[in-house]
Amino acid sequence: MSRVLERCHSIADLRKEARRRLPRAMFDYMEGGADDEVTLRRNSDAFLGLELVPRVLRNVQRVDLGCTVLGSTVRMPIICAPTGGTRLFHHEGEAAVARAAERAGTVYCLSSVSTCSIEEIGALGSGPKWFQIYVWRDRTILRDFIARCRDAGYTALCLTADVAAAGNRERDLRNGFAVPPRIDLNNALDVLRRPVWLWHLLTSPRIAFRNVEKHAGANMSIASVMEYISRQLDPSVTWEDAAWMIEAWKGPFAIKGILSAADAERAVKIGATGIIVSNHGGRQLDHVPAPIEILPEIVAAVDGRADVILDGGVRRGTDVIKALAVGAKACMIGRPYLYGLAAGGEAGVDRALTILQSELELGMKLLGCRSLAELDASYLRASASTIP
Ligand SMILES: Cc1cc2nc3c(=O)[nH]c(=O)nc-3n(C[C@H](O)[C@H](O)[C@H](O)COP(=O)(O)O)c2cc1C
Repeated sequence: MSRVLERCHSIADLRKEARRRLPRAMFDYMEGGADDEVTLRRNSDAFLGLELVPRVLRNVQRVDLGCTVLGSTVRMPIICAPTGGTRLFHHEGEAAVARAAERAGTVYCLSSVSTCSIEEIGALGSGPKWFQIYVWRDRTILRDFIARCRDAGYTALCLTADVAAAGNRERDLRNGFAVPPRIDLNNALDVLRRPVWLWHLLTSPRIAFRNVEKHAGANMSIASVMEYISRQLDPSVTWEDAAWMIEAWKGPFAIKGILSAADAERAVKIGATGIIVSNHGGRQLDHVPAPIEILPEIVAAVDGRADVILDGGVRRGTDVIKALAVGAKACMIGRPYLYGLAAGGEAGVDRALTILQSELELGMKLLGCRSLAELDASYLRASASTIP
């Protein structure tokens, strides 16, 4: 491990390092949220509303962090969420995340708009892999994705349901964010100050959305592929489309972007086996609840009929403990592993996952819990503190 990574002891440390290494437009694309970023901030801050109630003298010599979620057995309940365009942050991209996730004994969910293909990631290692899917206007793409995931050995699909339109991310508009990254008079100095990032951008294969290229048409510029992707994200999608996909996949299937008990109930009714409580990391609609705030209602509505996964705002092992004590089966993380990736490639993702795993294990010991199954609401209380 590099000296830089050795000096990173928390996700916040990795974030600082990522910020130092990435041009502003890349860091802001990773970090930013929609509108005034109220939800983005709230996703993490809302964990402060819960306090942990430890129990003592319980022989916590050994702590088991293993569980089974969406049919995949993992060594810790922290799943790597789908993030598109990962090679913008480090040239090793999704492959680095997939390898690190497998080493940590967990799952990586590959994004539809990834810069490595379904097949490339499917061929790495032998651990379980999930794929994130959208409902595309052109249903032949959907059929093709489902068939390719099956052939490449993916074990679960996650339908992202909160993108009827792209969120308003003003940082990206201000920075003139583009894929592939544009270097002009406005950002030249900023980019030149990140020579390692720039060197890799210039010397590694062109950044492209590998899964959609073939549908968008041969030899299209990446800008045209992006335009094609946004045309394909279908705002007329309904529950019938989701039900069709569940039927077509015939395996573990989660719906990502659920923020109401009514939608959770409906998802279970059409056969979803996972509910991902998520607001897309605050990147879509601003002023929606933080996942941890809405989680109790959704856990109650699902009532054990599907795995509930909390996604958004997790930055500490204690955040994971709180989510699981409320009733989540596991948590997903997006930015935490991206900070690691930007800070140090694959070793940086290893570092992010190790930090969270160690924090979770230590937190469980100090809480007096030996296994995730023991976690319940008796370990939580609402915070009465007025300290922000
Ligand atoms: C840079 C970036 C790209 C993302 N791309 C996708 C995507 O392609 N598909 C998707 O379903 N979610 C995407 N997300 C959302 C994540 O899957 C996840 O919901 C979010 O990052 C969780 O919040 P956190 O970053 O606070 O952990 C993206 C998030 C980020 C930060």
